[in-house]
Amino acid sequence: MSSIISIQNVSFSYEEAEDSAVKGVSLEVEKGEFLAILGRNGSGKSTLAKLLNALILPTDGAISVDGISPTDEDSRYEIRTRCGMVFQNPDNQIVSTIVEEDCAFGLENMGVAPQEIRRRVDEALARVGMAEYALSSPHMLSGGQKQRVAIAGVVAMRPKIIVFDESTAMLDPVGRRDVFSLARKLNREEGITIVWITHFMEEAVQADRVAVMDAGRLVMQGAPREVFSHEAEIRAMGLDVPEMTQLAGILRGAGVNLPADIMTCDEMAVELCRLK
Ligand SMILES: Nc1ncnc2c1ncn2[C@@H]1O[C@H](COP(=O)(O)OP(=O)(O)O)[C@@H](O)[C@H]1O
Ligand SMILES: [Mg+2]
Repeated sequence: MSSIISIQNVSFSYEEAEDSAVKGVSLEVEKGEFLAILGRNGSGKSTLAKLLNALILPTDGAISVDGISPTDEDSRYEIRTRCGMVFQNPDNQIVSTIVEEDCAFGLENMGVAPQEIRRRVDEALARVGMAEYALSSPHMLSGGQKQRVAIAGVVAMRPKIIVFDESTAMLDPVGRRDVFSLARKLNREEGITIVWITHFMEEAVQADRVAVMDAGRLVMQGAPREVFSHEAEIRAMGLDVPEMTQLAGILRGAGVNLPADIMTCDEMAVELCRLK
């Protein structure tokens, strides 16, 4: 396995701020990985996302994305084409009054030829399941559909990595599930590396790996099962553990013999049925 993102001892301070938003973070993301990043509000997740996308530059330390360091304007631009970004609020990402034009925006900025744009936009809208809305107005769509259009715009640029910064936070449960499944599909079927920032534990349990941020630092990383087995530490950081992990903890406290690393309903059902 090789790293597609390498973050080495990176810190970042906003100009007006007293304290650094990101402090000495080191993290490697493997090619093809689905990495979830967790952390309470203000823990530095969005700052880290912007660093990955070269929207801001490290105050200290080094970052490389697909082998490129953000040393000058050209390399930063190159990073942004290889590492796409989907934000939290779908409304803030809409730039046009027609879905397919919205989707073409990034490609137009890249100077891609019109026929190629046509091809890539059609393909991208089909991949996110929004082809039939190509001529609709984005403002008429649901939140989840708007996010899928935003994702199509990113996919059309053929990135190797997509960073989702709480992209399901404003969606209803259906939209949330759709957008999350789409990210998983892009990861599994297209091999796109995903950095999935979230505060939904049921999403994080499905990632290959979870990294936890607290007060600007990266404080834990590992397989979801391993990270969530540290329930007390997770709670101390103002985060929840998955509902079934929580329930298992309560039942264990009451003397029921269950393993510490239950994460899903299915696992809980299996373990409960095993009990005599
Ligand atoms: N543009 C900004 N200027 C100054 N401080 C900021 C700015 N954006 C974020 N911060 C501060 O940086 C810290 C990390 O914020 P952020 O990366 O947005 O965290 P998260 O995404 O985990 O909620 C917070 O203390 C926040 O107040
Ligand atoms: Mg944020």
